Amino acid sequence: MKSDTRQDLRLNPEKLPAHVAIIMDGNGRWAKKRLMNRIKGHEKGSKTVRSIVTAARELGIGMLTLYAFSTENWARPQVEVKALMVLLKRFLVSERDELMARGVRLNILGQMEKLPEDIQEEAEKTVTLTQNNQGMALNLALSYGSRQEICAGMQALAREIKAGQIQPHEITEEMISDHLYTRQMPDPDLIIRTSGEFRLSNFMMWQAAYSELFITDTLWPDFTREEFIEILINFQERDRRFGKVKCSTSNDGSPQ
Ligand code: IPE
Ligand code: IPE
Ligand code: MG
Repeated sequence: MKSDTRQDLRLNPEKLPAHVAIIMDGNGRWAKKRLMNRIKGHEKGSKTVRSIVTAARELGIGMLTLYAFSTENWARPQVEVKALMVLLKRFLVSERDELMARGVRLNILGQMEKLPEDIQEEAEKTVTLTQNNQGMALNLALSYGSRQEICAGMQALAREIKAGQIQPHEITEEMISDHLYTRQMPDPDLIIRTSGEFRLSNFMMWQAAYSELFITDTLWPDFTREEFIEILINFQERDRRFGKVKCSTSNDGSPQ
């Protein structure tokens, strides 16, 4: 465990978000600013992934979701998509021992079947190996799109109705949640987006109903543990009302 800094001490360990999700944006702009190829930005961005996963784990965050590749990102130039897949494979292989040593459980959210076969194999290997780990859960959103996720979930529900297993009026919000990639997972308490865009870009539109949003101008390759902690401190200072009149819940959503 990294030694506590003054900054870490400003964080209340009792009020940590159970689930933090990050829309990791700005790799291309980071490279452009340096007159480099976008792929260099993705390479630098993958180093940030490592440091933020470590920080989240050390701080005691229970679940971290990283939006790494969207359903729409397939439409990028082939060479960029290929480079992203190479980096992804590298992460899945090189981090396997570290994830095991640190007790991190890996989940993939998204259309696994759309990923190149070698990546599917490496992902499955790491997911299977780490599935009983009891430390932080790390979700990688890969070929993930909220609309596709909801669409696939609705198709599954419709099949259950057709088979007579449930009646349409019996569908509940919990049932819908249970037909998404995030089934059995808490909704994100906090969604961070780097690089200053004020949009969700097809990310967790069902799950984000009451998420706190934090947009930073920092480009993902420049994002640091220190800024991450500042955002968590900001989160802890917010008053989450969940539609009620006065503050009656703590930041993790539980009654005070
Ligand atoms: C985020 O950085 C990485 C992915 C979406 C895969 P971008 O590649 O979107 O970077 P910008 O937005 O062009 O700067
Ligand atoms: C969102 O970033 C997707 C990921 C971070 C993986 P994009 O760069 O694809 O989003 P837009 O195009 O700016 O909305
Ligand atoms: Mg972008």
